[in-house]
Amino acid sequence: MVTLREYLVLTAAFCFHTINGAQQPNILLVVADDYGFHDIGYHGSEIKTPTLNKLAGEGVKLENYYVQPICSPTRSQLLSGRYQIHTGLQHDIIWACQPNGLPLEDPTIADKLREAGYATHAVGKWHLGFYKDEYLPINRGFDSYFGYLTGAEDYYNHTRCSSLIHKGYCGIDMTNGKTPDTTETGKYSTHLFTNRAIDIPLFLYLPYQAVHNPLQVPEKYVAPYRYINDQSRRTYAGMVAALDEGVANLTNAFKAAGLWDNTVMVFTTDNGGQIHAGGNNWPLRGWKASLWEGGLHGVGFVNSPLLKQKGVVRKELIHVSDWFPTFLNLAGGSFNGTKLDGYDQWKTISEGSEGQRSELLHNIDPLYSQRGSKRYNNTFDTRTRSALRMGDFKLITGDPGNGSWIAPPEQANHSRPDPSKRSDNVWLFNIVKDPNENHDISQQYPDIVDKMLFKLSAYSKTAIPARYPDPDPRCNPALHGGVWTPWE
Ligand SMILES: *[C@@H]1O[C@H](CO)[C@@H](O)[C@H](O)[C@H]1NC(C)=O
Ligand SMILES: *[C@@H]1O[C@H](CO)[C@@H](O)[C@H](O)[C@H]1NC(C)=O
Ligand SMILES: *[C@@H]1O[C@H](CO)[C@@H](O)[C@H](O)[C@H]1NC(C)=O
Ligand SMILES: *[C@@H]1O[C@H](CO)[C@@H](O)[C@H](O)[C@H]1NC(C)=O
Ligand SMILES: *[C@@H]1O[C@H](CO)[C@@H](O)[C@H](O)[C@H]1NC(C)=O
Ligand SMILES: *[C@@H]1O[C@H](CO)[C@@H](O)[C@H](O)[C@H]1NC(C)=O
Repeated sequence: MVTLREYLVLTAAFCFHTINGAQQPNILLVVADDYGFHDIGYHGSEIKTPTLNKLAGEGVKLENYYVQPICSPTRSQLLSGRYQIHTGLQHDIIWACQPNGLPLEDPTIADKLREAGYATHAVGKWHLGFYKDEYLPINRGFDSYFGYLTGAEDYYNHTRCSSLIHKGYCGIDMTNGKTPDTTETGKYSTHLFTNRAIDIPLFLYLPYQAVHNPLQVPEKYVAPYRYINDQSRRTYAGMVAALDEGVANLTNAFKAAGLWDNTVMVFTTDNGGQIHAGGNNWPLRGWKASLWEGGLHGVGFVNSPLLKQKGVVRKELIHVSDWFPTFLNLAGGSFNGTKLDGYDQWKTISEGSEGQRSELLHNIDPLYSQRGSKRYNNTFDTRTRSALRMGDFKLITGDPGNGSWIAPPEQANHSRPDPSKRSDNVWLFNIVKDPNENHDISQQYPDIVDKMLFKLSAYSKTAIPARYPDPDPRCNPALHGGVWTPWE
């Protein structure tokens, strides 16, 4: 396997010679995994992220930016521009052995950018299904793919042992194009080089493994953080430092190749930090997998010489599903065949014009265990797990997950437990005035609750059934030479 740096230098060098200098910008989409809201330097973290701070500081910080609470859902919306209720992925992640995936009838942003003339490459985590060849990134619009198909694995030996379901199924998860790659040879650069034979703008999708668990990092990155007593937090801080250095190398490679002037870089987390694996979202409430802000209020920024205003903060509501139409318009691509829930936000990001979005369906999950008893005389069942943002207001129903406020270890005495009762299943917040969800105002504003419940009903009517198939034992890597690969 080539290193990321080698990959990028090759990519960039090659593009430098072949780029046609057209208006279509290169698009560099960097995703960090389980990266917490508190864990970027400019959110007051003790973890230093000089590269990310600089890129965000000189670009546009998105401070009202939302993702989904867990991996596959966010990635599905990022690549399809569609809410989970419209792809059947509203319940959970895609587990390694589930025959499931992002529906093939939904074009990905890579499909559409390729159609608009882009070379499209993905390097890193997929997690959008792989049980059949058709679901592999190479068949979802990417010219090349190098990475792992499941949700997490060992950072060094690239082995995934399936958790939750089919414990004990272990295999190497690394795929080059369609082919499992168990070697450390330089094959990929050749593959990449020979595939890139035309004048092309570049779409590079780089969903890093970092900083998801397992907590692993070369020791040198941890050295500056020896003072952090909490071992998980200390290792996690080192992982963030390595990620920050990776982004520095990446952007330097683009600059060295003369590509940067025509590049739009987006940095996003996929969901909130996991407090049980070193991450932190302080001062937000809750964490990864919950519908509290700590689960879905994301870290995000844009850097590009093409931005009209630089060094600014945007407070307009922006969501991960907005990248699809934003990128496709930047690329001058066609929207034929797309059905999108996202909005083109480029003018908002670049010029500060009014946001395109006043509403955001966080999710409706019909399969999640119900909580409490049905309240309000409304067509929407408040026992169902859901959350909706309308203007300044956020409504949460059902079981949103643990809503404690967890401060980072060095300020642990600020942490506060979730005050909710087990029977509670409706919360209303003015997120603009109360971004940390301290004051439930559902009692004061029953009319707003009612209106938002009706809106949830209306969304429910557009949903397709949630798919959550039983795991298929044919996934077992032992049946496929010890690797995770399509089995059907
Ligand atoms: C890979 O590393 C994990 C620790 O993360 C270990 O449990 C496993 O045995 C290793 N697998 C191989 C094949 O070396
Ligand atoms: C960044 O580049 C330096 C210099 O080549 C290298 O030592 C380092 O390992 C790279 N870091 C990452 C995260 O790729
Ligand atoms: C739009 O896409 C469909 C397939 O999804 C294709 O049949 C049709 O020709 C396309 N129309 C245009 C104008 O490109
Ligand atoms: C619930 O709403 C329906 C229709 O709006 C109304 O007919 C019914 O009387 C209401 N029930 C209660 C208990 O308020
Ligand atoms: C919520 O999480 C906190 C921190 O992990 C834990 O102490 C608490 O028991 C949890 N509450 C519930 C109701 O599970
Ligand atoms: C937390 O502890 C620090 C000193 O360790 C103290 O200054 C601060 O007042 C404490 N905060 C709370 C909310 O207890």
